[in-house]
Amino acid sequence: MYSPFQLTKKYIRYYFTASNGKGHGIHSPFVFDFIKFVLNDRKNYSCYETIEAARENLLSNRSLIDVEDFGAGSAVIKTNKRIIAKIAASSLKPKKFSQLLFRISQYYKPATIVELGTSFGISSAYLACANPAATVYTLEGAGSIAAIATKNFEQLNLQNIHLLGGDFRESLPLLFRRIKNIDLVFLDGNHRKEPTLQYFSRLLDYAVASTLFIFDDIHWSREMEEAWTEVQQDSRVTLTIDLFFIGLVFINPEFKEKQHFKIRF
Ligand SMILES: C[S@@+](CC[C@H](N)C(=O)[O-])C[C@H]1O[C@@H](n2cnc3c(N)ncnc32)[C@H](O)[C@@H]1O
Repeated sequence: MYSPFQLTKKYIRYYFTASNGKGHGIHSPFVFDFIKFVLNDRKNYSCYETIEAARENLLSNRSLIDVEDFGAGSAVIKTNKRIIAKIAASSLKPKKFSQLLFRISQYYKPATIVELGTSFGISSAYLACANPAATVYTLEGAGSIAAIATKNFEQLNLQNIHLLGGDFRESLPLLFRRIKNIDLVFLDGNHRKEPTLQYFSRLLDYAVASTLFIFDDIHWSREMEEAWTEVQQDSRVTLTIDLFFIGLVFINPEFKEKQHFKIRF
């Protein structure tokens, strides 16, 4: 993973080379609509308040839990006994991006959503709350963490989430037996190059033209940047949007010319 200094330098470069986030100069109507109706939707949805209250509870919970380590999944903590608040502070997608996931789920209305990496279920909750007609399958290997996520889903009264336990190597084949297609994927589990590319390749078999892949932390490390470049170069990929902390990937063949956008957010 890059040092905070390297990451800041990268962020500054991104900030000054990205489009301004208002849609000026963007000639793709699809991307223009994304900016206008999703990225810049400033409404305050009721799910925001309830899910952020659940996050606050986690951030103030000093209890210790035993956690299986799945490697590059967490940027900060390495030991097995962990404080819930510390995991919440280092692993969960911050409010700004979690709420963007909400708006993506609300706007594109994916029927089947797959998330690799549940943690305490904050991003899963946003994806599910935005779109009650969707089914969200979220995969988490650490049993104690998954148990807390399950409680959160109950407390938030979200009945459209199915949590699959075990390592992704075990849970993905089980998932593939249960679904036909995937409409939205959020890859937020293993931040290494090879596993990321392998998951992408396997999930692509279940993709349809409108499927959207969202990759977390595409500039977090050299490996993740290499994975992001390979994904962009994949012949099936037709449009990508780099928001620095996440990357969006579309495979719709209707976007005839492959295009890569970098947008300030
Ligand atoms: C960054 S956290 C997910 C955060 C969550 N998406 C959010 O923003 O609210 C990644 C999670 O993926 C899990 N994970 C990482 N690698 C895994 C693997 N190979 N199999 C199962 N779970 C894994 C970790 O245990 C961790 O809880």
